[in-house]
Amino acid sequence: MSDLVRFGIAIDGELLGRFDERIAEKGYGNRSEAIRDLIRADLLERSADPDAPATGTLTLVYDHHVRELSEKLTDMQHDLGHHVVSTLHVHLDHDHCLEVVVLRGPAGMIEGAAQRIVATKGVIHGRLTLTGPLVPKDDPAHHHEHGPHTHEHAHEHPHAHAPKPDRRPR
Ligand code: NI
Repeated sequence: MSDLVRFGIAIDGELLGRFDERIAEKGYGNRSEAIRDLIRADLLERSADPDAPATGTLTLVYDHHVRELSEKLTDMQHDLGHHVVSTLHVHLDHDHCLEVVVLRGPAGMIEGAAQRIVATKGVIHGRLTLTGPLVPKDDPAHHHEHGPHTHEHAHEHPHAHAPKPDRRPR
């Protein structure tokens, strides 16, 4: 083992309280080991081959009241071009949106893009699940079977949350 390093984390007290309860349930004696395990698990999730073709679903929950967040997330997805296969958007409640983004491309690229989106301020929860290379890279039959990809969120573009009293969840 290399040198132990101590570092401080600024965290919401309520969130830390819930984390403490959770790690006690799991049998951890202290936070340090729980956090080390979280970090190890996260590092393990990185795919071995960043160039391997992959399909992934990125699930996001975010607060659309955070300034320009909806626009930022939409811009990031547009920048990914055809790597965004489809997007599902659900207005969870008055404050929160759920988005599921289906991504396809080299595993490393998908992971990097998902990470940038999850790290955006205002995104409360985000998780990428890579489902692996379901379709071989150069399978001509695949291109024959499927037409051009759909880009569903384009229909409700731009994503806006202007007050629509008759449609808003209560
Ligand atoms: Ni929404």
